[in-house]
Parts: sequence; C-alpha cells; structure tokens
Amino acid sequence: MKLPEELQYIQNSLKPQKSTDARMDGKVCVISGTTSGVGYQAAKRLAQGGAHLVMINRNKEKGQKIQAELAEKFGVEVDLFIADFQKLAEVQRAAREIGDKYPRIHVLINNAGVFNKRRRRTPDGHEMTFGVIHLASFLLSKLLIDNLKHGAPARVLFISSEAHRFGGFSIKDPNWHKRPYVGLLAYGGAKIAQIHTGRVFAERFKDSGVTFNIIHPGAVRTNIGMNNGFLYRIYSRYILRWFLKDPASSGEAIYYLAADPSLEGVTGRFFNQTIEENPAWYSVKPELSEAVWQQSEDFIHPYLEETL
Ligand SMILES: NC(=O)c1ccc[n+]([C@@H]2O[C@H](COP(=O)([O-])OP(=O)(O)OC[C@H]3O[C@@H](n4cnc5c(N)ncnc54)[C@H](OP(=O)(O)O)[C@@H]3O)[C@@H](O)[C@H]2O)c1
Repeated sequence: MKLPEELQYIQNSLKPQKSTDARMDGKVCVISGTTSGVGYQAAKRLAQGGAHLVMINRNKEKGQKIQAELAEKFGVEVDLFIADFQKLAEVQRAAREIGDKYPRIHVLINNAGVFNKRRRRTPDGHEMTFGVIHLASFLLSKLLIDNLKHGAPARVLFISSEAHRFGGFSIKDPNWHKRPYVGLLAYGGAKIAQIHTGRVFAERFKDSGVTFNIIHPGAVRTNIGMNNGFLYRIYSRYILRWFLKDPASSGEAIYYLAADPSLEGVTGRFFNQTIEENPAWYSVKPELSEAVWQQSEDFIHPYLEETL
C-alpha cells in the first residue's frame, strides 16, 4: 500500500538503508555535538573512515574524553573546540578559531540540538531550540563558507528531523513571544527554519563546489530531551526506547551522505537517513525560504564578519 505523499516518511523509515565503503582519509570534517547520540555515532564512523575530526562541544570534559577515545581507537587526528550554541558569540569565536586553523574544510555537520518541554531562552534572548538548532548552525555555516569553498568539493549536512512535519514555525513569531509554547512545535519549527535556509544555501552556492543537504538521522535512542526532568527520563528510557532505532544507524547514514561518491554535486535535498524524500510543503516555499534567510541574517548580523 502506498501512503499519501506526506506520510511516505513512515514507509521510508522502514526501508533498508544505504552505506558506503568510500574512505575519508585526511578529510577535515567539522561536527558539532559529539558528546552523545547521533553526533557521537557520526564522529565515530567518520574516524573509522579515516577523517580528520574537528569537534565542537560545549562540555570540555566530555569532549576531551571522546577526543582521546576516537584518536586512540582509530589513529586519526581529533581536535576539539569549545562553544555553547546558546551563545552566538561563542559560535562566532569557535568559527574564527576553526577557520584560521583549517584553511580547507571538506565536511561540516550541523548536529548539536536540544528539545525542551517548557519554554527556555538563550542568553541572547532566543527561544532555545530556535537558537541552538537553527541560528547557531546558520551562523557557523556562514562563517565557514570560504574554508568550505577552499575545500571543494565540500559538503554541509544539517541534521534536521521528521519532527518538522509537526509544523510550528511562524515567521511572525520565530522566538515564541506571542504563542503559547508547545515543545514539540518549537522543535519542529526550528527544524523547519533549518530546512528553509539549508535550501537557500544550496541555491546561493550552487556553483561553489559546496553542497548543502538536510537529513533526518532516524528516530534513534539518544539523550535528546533528557534535560526535561525525571518523568521524561523515565518515559524515554523505559517506553520510548522500544520504538527507536540503534543510533549507530544515524552514524552510518551521516557517513554515507558525507562520503559516498554518488552524492557528488547533489545539493538542496532532504534525506530520511539515506533515502531521499520531499520535506513538508511548508518548509520548501521559496518566498518563505528567502524571508526566513533574511530574518535569520538579521538575528545573527552582529556576529557576521561580512555579509554574504
Ligand atoms: N534522537 C533522535 O531520534 C533524533 C531524531 C531526529 C533528529 N535528531 C537530531 O539529532 C541531533 C543530535 O541529537 P541527539 O538525538 O543525538 O541528542 P543528544 O544525545 O542529546 O545529543 C545532542 C548533542 O548536542 C549537544 N548540545 C546540546 N545543546 C548544546 C549547546 N547549547 N551547545 C553545544 N552543544 C549542544 C549535546 O551536548 P551535551 O552533551 O553537552 O548536552 C550533544 O552532544 C539534534 O539536532 C536532534 O534534533 C535526533
């Protein structure tokens, strides 16, 4: 039975996924949020494939532990930069340090993310999921664009989510000042903003040798949401986990999108793990995408060295 277009993601989630034997030896791969879950699995798979890992984490201690583990296990270079993505100034500082140290970047994976049941704000005043998931990765991608161009062919991956299908983005109220807060909708909204701008990146940089794709990493067992109190943790650990996949599948899918030669030049697409599909219609309206780009630029403007 073929489900309607908007529900095909359910069938896609059950299909066998692709993988690749392609190597990434010496390729500089920048990835945020590697201390657990999807980011950890992706970092591990990249290290196994020979990549030179450049990790951005907020927790130095956890980051150093992963750094030592991956460097020792896979014999690759693993570097660590510290930034809290709630603070755009820290993203800017990390981007500057990384940009100066690695003139050529081959892969950027925007992975760090958070889910909040209750409304929380970043110190910059943004709704937290919008700030961490969308604005921080938008800023990081913009600030590293020249290094990615020098590393071309280069790939940028935005770790999005099928949760964008919940809706939740409002161009009039991206920071949830006017609407009653609903955690899942705020999370979905941040992922929608990411899809809009990911596609604009693809369009604007289509002849640059840098591709931009968006991926749902699978519904997998990770620490996401564990910051939402005891009851949520019980629900996640003992109930939700039975419906979720092994996070190693996310690492394999991200590696495939970062490394497989068949994806050379493929840009502006949405993948459910490794299966291409159409994101929800409201995340791909071109006029709205341009408006989200413009609005996001206005938010990050103080942290941009130059306007692209
Ligand atoms: N799990 C799923 O089923 C699923 C489904 C779709 C999409 N995703 C997406 O996958 C990505 C990774 O999530 P996950 O499921 O792997 O969750 P996770 O296990 O909680 O990992 C999230 C990562 O992001 C980091 N992070 C959170 N807030 C940060 C901040 N303010 N600054 C810097 N880093 C921060 C975390 O660091 P700390 O260790 O310091 O907290 C951790 O490394 C997210 O974008 C999420 O939306 C997950």
